[in-house]
Order: sequence, then C-alpha cells, then structure tokens
Amino acid sequence: MGKGFYISKAVGIVGIVLCAGALATIIALSVVYSQEKAKNNNQVLPTDGGLTTKPTVTPAPTSTPSSELWDKYRLPKSLVPLNYYVTLRPHLTPDPTTKLYIFEGESTVEFECVEDTDLIIIHSHKLNYSDSEKTLGVRLTPVNDAVNVPTIKSAWLQPVTQYLVVQLNGKLTSGNRYQLSTKFTGELADDLGGFYRSEYKEDGVTKIVATTQMQPTDARKAFPCFDEPAMKAVFYITLIHDHGTIALSNAEEKESTNVTIAGQDLRMTVFEPTKKMSTYLLAFIVCDFDFISNTTDQLLIRIFARKSAIAADQGEYALNKTGPILKFFEKYYNSSYPLPKSDQIALPDFNAGAMENWGLITYRETALLYDEAYSSSSNKERIATIIAHELAHMWFGNLVTLRWWNDLWLNEGFASYVEYLGAHEAEPDWNVKDLIVLSDVHRVFAIDALASSHPLTSNEDDIQKPAQISELFDAISYSKGASVLRMLSDFLTEDVFTMGLQTYLAEFAFGNAVYTDLWNHLQTAVIASKTDLPDTVHNIMNTWVLQMGFPVVTIDTTTGVISQKHFLLDPNSEITTPSPFNYEWIVPIRWMKTGKTQDLQWLKDKSATIDAMKASADWVLANLDVVGYYRVNYDEGNWDRLLSVQSTNHELIPVINRAQLVDDAFNLARAQIISTVLALNTTKYLIREREYMPWQSTLNNLDFFYLMFDRTEVYGPMQDYLRKQVTPLFDYYKTMTDNWSKVPDKHMDQYNQVNAISLACRTGLEECQTLATTWFEQWRTTNINPIHPNLRSTIYCNAIAAGGAVEWDFAWSQFLNATIAIEADKLRSALACTKQPWLLNRYLEYTLNPTLIRKQDATSTIVYIANNVVGQPLAWDFVRARWSYIFTEYGGGSFSFSNLINGVTKRFSTQFELDQLEQFKADNADVGFGSGTMAVEQSIERTIGNIKWIEKNKENVLNWFLDEAKP
Ligand code: BES
Ligand code: ZN
Repeated sequence: MGKGFYISKAVGIVGIVLCAGALATIIALSVVYSQEKAKNNNQVLPTDGGLTTKPTVTPAPTSTPSSELWDKYRLPKSLVPLNYYVTLRPHLTPDPTTKLYIFEGESTVEFECVEDTDLIIIHSHKLNYSDSEKTLGVRLTPVNDAVNVPTIKSAWLQPVTQYLVVQLNGKLTSGNRYQLSTKFTGELADDLGGFYRSEYKEDGVTKIVATTQMQPTDARKAFPCFDEPAMKAVFYITLIHDHGTIALSNAEEKESTNVTIAGQDLRMTVFEPTKKMSTYLLAFIVCDFDFISNTTDQLLIRIFARKSAIAADQGEYALNKTGPILKFFEKYYNSSYPLPKSDQIALPDFNAGAMENWGLITYRETALLYDEAYSSSSNKERIATIIAHELAHMWFGNLVTLRWWNDLWLNEGFASYVEYLGAHEAEPDWNVKDLIVLSDVHRVFAIDALASSHPLTSNEDDIQKPAQISELFDAISYSKGASVLRMLSDFLTEDVFTMGLQTYLAEFAFGNAVYTDLWNHLQTAVIASKTDLPDTVHNIMNTWVLQMGFPVVTIDTTTGVISQKHFLLDPNSEITTPSPFNYEWIVPIRWMKTGKTQDLQWLKDKSATIDAMKASADWVLANLDVVGYYRVNYDEGNWDRLLSVQSTNHELIPVINRAQLVDDAFNLARAQIISTVLALNTTKYLIREREYMPWQSTLNNLDFFYLMFDRTEVYGPMQDYLRKQVTPLFDYYKTMTDNWSKVPDKHMDQYNQVNAISLACRTGLEECQTLATTWFEQWRTTNINPIHPNLRSTIYCNAIAAGGAVEWDFAWSQFLNATIAIEADKLRSALACTKQPWLLNRYLEYTLNPTLIRKQDATSTIVYIANNVVGQPLAWDFVRARWSYIFTEYGGGSFSFSNLINGVTKRFSTQFELDQLEQFKADNADVGFGSGTMAVEQSIERTIGNIKWIEKNKENVLNWFLDEAKP
C-alpha cells in the first residue's frame, strides 16, 4: 500500500494524498469484502485461495474483564482527537452471490496524547478489519517525524464495549500527536443506523441510497472514531461513488473528479474540512436525488429529495421556510449561522422524524415534503416545526454541545421549546405557540404523574451503555424539557432568557457545556437586568429538574391559602425514589381574578396565604396559558364559579385555559382529588364551544374513557352524550365550509373541523357516516379522489371501518401506489380501522414484511391496529408472540419501542391483562426491552391504576352519561 496514504502535516495536500491512498487500497479492500460476504453468510471461510482465514475478531489478551480500560463504556481521557481523514465507498449494488450490500473505508485519525499511555482505545462497531493477524492492519505514525512511535503489540476488537483496541510496545507521550490509520469494511444494511441503506422505486426501478444516522452512538458503525460528544474534531471527508450519483456531507464539496479503481470508472467527491464538531452530527450520503436551492443573505440553502418529488415541487415549502427560520434563530441566538451551507434531505427510510446533522439535516419524507394536493394543514405544521426544531439545534446542540448524554434533556427539551418560536416565525397566523400545551405539557403530564417517572437530569455515571443513552430520548427529555424551559423563559421574560442564552452560546461555541453552565449565564442576565426572583435560577430550576413529577397547586379561595402536593395519577402508588426537595417546587403562578390578570405570585413552600386570592364572588383562575408546569385545583365554590362562567360566558376564560380546565379536572378526578362527575361536568359547555384547543383537550381525555369503556355498557350512553355535544360543532363547520366544499380560513378551524367530523362519525352521526362512505365510494369507483387532504385521515378511517374487504383492498392498493409518503401514511393508519379481524390479522402480518411496510413504519402500524378496539387483542398477541424477533430486527429505533409497548397495552384494565403483562415482562427478561424498558414499568403501573379506576368509577360514569344523554 502506498506510503502516501499516511498523511502528515500539510492539510492542503490531504485530499490529493487521500485520493492516491484510496486508489491504492480499494483493491486490497476487495479481499476484505470477500471475507465480509462469507462472514455475513455464515459461511466457513476457505483456508486457501489467498483469502485471509484469520478471525476478524482476535480474542483479547486474558485478564480480569471489568478492570481493563477496554471493558469500560466511557473512553479513557488519555487521547484527544484533532482531525479525521475518512474515505468511504458505499456499494449501491449488492454482491451478486451474497446479495449483501457493503461499504469500504479507510480512515486516519490524528490525535493528541494528553496522558502517557500504551493503549489506543477507539470506538468501532460491526466493522471488519483485516490484513495481518496481530494488528488488524492498523498503522500508527507520528505527526512530527522527530517523535518516536512505539510499535504495535496487538490490536483486537471488543464487541461488547464496541472498541478497537491497539496495544503498543511502548508509550505514547503526553504533548505529542499521532495518527492512527485503518481500513475496514462494513455492511450497508437496511438497519437505519450508522451508514445504512434506504431503498425506493422510481419508474419501476429499485434505487439505493447510502445514508447515515449517527446519533447517539452509531458513528462508530461507519468508521473507527472517538465516539463521544465531547471528543470534537475536524473531519475531512471523501466519498467514492458511481457516476450518476451525488455525494453529500456536512461540509461543502471541495472538488469532484473522475477516478478509476480496479478498472472501474468512479467519482470521487472531496469535501471541505468541517468545523470542529461531534461525531454524532456527521452525515454522508450517496444517492441520485435532485435538489432545489436558494440563497438567503449569501447562505446556500438546498432541499434534496427523490427526483420525482423534486419534479413535483414537493420541496418548495421547506425551501421557502428555511431561510426565514434561520434568520429568526440568528436573531434569537444573536449569532450568525455557523456554516457556509444548509442542506436538508428527505429519505425514504429514516427511523426518527429528523436528525440535526450539522449542515446536512436528514428527514423522513413525511417530515419535509409538502404537496398541496396531498398534505393536510397538520402535515404542513409538522414540517414547519420539525424544520425549526432541527435548525434550532444548529446552534443549541451543534455549535455548543452538552458534554455527555445525561444532559440530553436540555438539548432536546430546548429544541422542542424553540421549535414553536421558529414555526411561529414561519407561519405567524397559525397560533402554533399555543399548541405546546397540548403536544408537550399535557402529553408529558400523563407520564410524569406516574410513580415510575424519573427526573429530567441523570448522573453522568449512570448513563454508559448505548441502550441507556437511547432510553433518554423519551417524553420526559423532550416534552418536560420543553415545558420547564418555556416556564423559565416566561418568568425571566424572553429578553432576559435570550440574553443569558446568547452569552452561553458565545462562551462555549465549538465546545461543550453542562446544563448548569446555562443556569449560570441566565443568572448573570438576571443580575444584569435586575430581574426580581424569589431565588437563584439554579435553585428554582433544581426543583424542576432534579426531582421527577410536578405539583398540583390547590387554591382555597375561601381562605386565600394556596398549597402544593406531588401530583400522582394513582395516589396510592408508592414512591421509591427519594427527592432532594421532598417533592416541593418553587412555583411561579400567573393568575387572573374574574377575567383580570393579576401580578405574578410565587409559591416557595408547602403552603402560603395570598390574601388577594381570597374570593367569594370572584372566580380565580391560575396558571394562565398553562405556562407553569403544574396542575391547579380549587375549593368547590371556585370550581362552581368557574363552571358557571364556562357555561355562560366561556370567552372570558382564555382559550388555552379552557383546554386546561378540562384536562386538569379529568386528571384530578383520576387521581381521586375531585369527583369524576365534576370532571365530566366541564364538558357540558362544549355544546357551545367552537375553538380547537378545548375540544382537542376534551377528546384526549375522552380517549381514556373510550379505552376503558368501549367494551362495556357505558359505551352506548357515552356515545349518545357525545353525539349530542358534537352535533352543533358538526353543523357549524358544515355551514362554514358550505356543505364541506370549502376549507376554513383559520388554521385552528381547519383542525377543529377534523375533530367535528371524526367525533361525529365516531359517535355514529348518520350524516357523517354517509359523507365518509359516499366520498370514499366516489374515489373507489371513479379513481378521482374528492376528499380534501385535511379530511382524508378521518374519512378514510371511517369508510374502511364501515366497509369490508373491497374497501380495504382498494385502500391497500392506493397505499402501494402512493407517490408521496404523506398520502401513504394516511392510508397506512386508516387501514388499521377495519373491524374485520381477519383483515386486521393479515395487516399485522404485513407489518413485519419490509417489502410491504417499511421498517421505519412497522411499530407505528402495529400501534394503529392496537388503537382499534377489535385490533387491540390481536396486536397484543402478535407482539407477545414475536417479541424477540421484533426486538432484534426493529430494535434500532429510539422512540419506537416505548411507543409500541405503551400502544399495545394502553387499553389494559383487568387483572387478567395485568397478569399477561407481568408474564410478558418475565418471559422476555433475557431478550430485554431496550428503549422500551421504562415503558414496560409504566404500562404495569397504568394497568393497575386503570383497574382501580374502573372499579371506582364505572357506575357513576354510566349514570352521568345516562342522565346527560337525554335530549
Ligand atoms: N436528535 C433528534 C433525532 C434523534 C432522535 C436521533 C432519537 C436519535 C435518536 C432530532 O433533533 C429530533 O428530536 N427529532 C424529532 C423531531 C422533533 C420535532 C421532536 C423526531 O425525530 O421526532
Ligand atoms: Zn432534537
């Protein structure tokens, strides 16, 4: 192999040198490729014929395991990476005999030794090395020729801790720089992690995309690297690819040239060096996509997608919104966008929704591509918010990175908060900022009210293994993180919040921080601005981030006494986690009295008296706009007064609080703090309510009633009551839309129109059902779809539920032929609505067949089926029976497993089901639950709560519905 491959000092010639190196070594790599093929096929390697027969994994020298550095999941601190020179060649065609797709690579990392050591420990996972027995072909060279480099004693892989270990015959010495060079191959699998393969069909031809998903710990699956977020370095990336394909990475293209390797004419694209960055933010892509672009203040913005998607202008919306959102964040952060370009790409297979790779953001297609003819207003909103979320990370997360994964909640929580600010900038007429209350605050309240919840923060030492890191991507990190940061920004005021944020970003740019660094900067801003707070930012926020859960604040207007208590959905559940604050919080209280906003109050202790809150005729309403992360309860008199305003003059109560009253009441009732009847009473006024948020909040809560009662005698009267409540809303939208022929002007009206139709159909309003079946039939018979995209999900669902195999098969064929993923997704969820068990079971079988349902969609499809009352037991049996298969084949996703377990068990409410769940947990203890581990505990706790709740409430609820359903 050419000596030139081992690059030294001169950065300028790196590209050229690498080029020569790549050429020289690709041929050698084909040997490794053959070995790879054989290995992946479980073939016994031939002992002759020139193929190396040495095992790729050399056993580690004998030693007591846990005492060795390579058995620890965290890297030793002795070596610090500076630059990586990585060349990768993904093969977009499979090997004809093994049918496997692979990539080949070579990489040189330049690092500094900061503590003398004779060990190089670097992450490497599922990569294959070859060459010589003892060294795996690894080479070590000095950066400065004057420095002595010890020879390599041996090199081996540690698959458990995912390391490549290089043991030296002498020591690397502190203060010196070295280079470690490797060549390797890996499988370009369809496993959605590391360097992976995505497939799609265009003009009848199957096409392959090579792409990456590194976060949190899969960069090591693409090339050997110090794969921890604080190990920032500069990356020099080169991709070798076929003619007719494009290559993308984080940085701009430096040059793209023709090369011939082993007689093959190829392209070599060399990228500019990246900024100093973390490995989890890297991205490499080879595909034959098209793009559209614009330039905003000299910044190049591009949207990449399948050629037909670009030709159909499906990238235009994203392209038009990116510039303004970037501008917004530049102002918000007071920091110009740190990179020279911003690429975003829509991928046919992608596990999460989107990933904030620095300069090359990856999305699933539904999260980036918009087409007026197919996308609903909610699809559009998701695109705007998800773009805002990922762009927010370009600074918060990418420019300044949390030191370790235990602080992930701050990274994801922050982006999940400011995504609403960014989306508001893109679509100022939509009132999207209000929606955080439903999508995050209310959503996470349900989880954070369980005894099995956990605090936002965790100790660095407790988060070590990849599975532990993956588990952190949960609703607590995202939605509670977002909720408490919104509360913080509110009580500091946005000016003070951004002031602290801006100095934080300036201080730690291109570096790493811990969450308390942000508190310190905010505290400095508090002092500079003379903001009046009852305690330091640190002390106030500790009560929200160091202990799990949240309080219910009770206001007794007869005395003015306000008090707080840890809110638990099941008041009898046992809390085993001690709290450093005894489950007390420092609570900011925004409130109003009979419609007039009052001064902010703080509750610092278990209870306090606030004279102004004493009232006998006035109504008191606390937690205005639900900016605070807590629930509110009142004395009976105040509840009566609130319900009376709600029923006579509901507009006096801010719309977000109308949603809150319902949500708080239902949850207080579940926690046995108020009666279920009082909670149900908060829904009576809906007969006059037209706004989206209160209706959505009610539907979310009634969903629990459906889950608990749709197989019982409560179901009929409940349907009668709800039909009565929703009929005026249905008529209202029917008029507004001129008999369903127009689209409501306001964004929230578009949403609520969908609610009106879906509840009306669900409760059996005949006019609604006829509407659904007529439209669907029209589509089926004429092949022209008359249904507006906003209404498609609900109409498809209702028509398929009312129909049989003919309707199902028609929808399935439309699913297979859909030209845009957003349409396919609507059908995919609607297909789960059929009431025919055999169709549901057949559909369940499809979910694990990747040629029918993409791997990225498997678990969510099973959950759709479980949401159907007929499908739930089928889905549960299916998941139980195949857990270990699902777990091994679909285990990569971070959110999907908790969603799957919660999804298939959320209807559980009998002892029999609880026993099954416990059995499931025991049976699969050896297989494990990965990122769904916590969900198993949550499901058990939820089931126990449901059993008790039904016992206590069924009769009351039945009687209440019977009474109220009367005309
Ligand atoms: N960093 C995440 C993507 C991610 C999630 C990577 C889990 C690895 C594991 C990204 O910033 C993100 O949060 N995406 C969200 C979208 C967002 C709008 C909440 C997603 O993928 O759903
Ligand atoms: Zn994120």
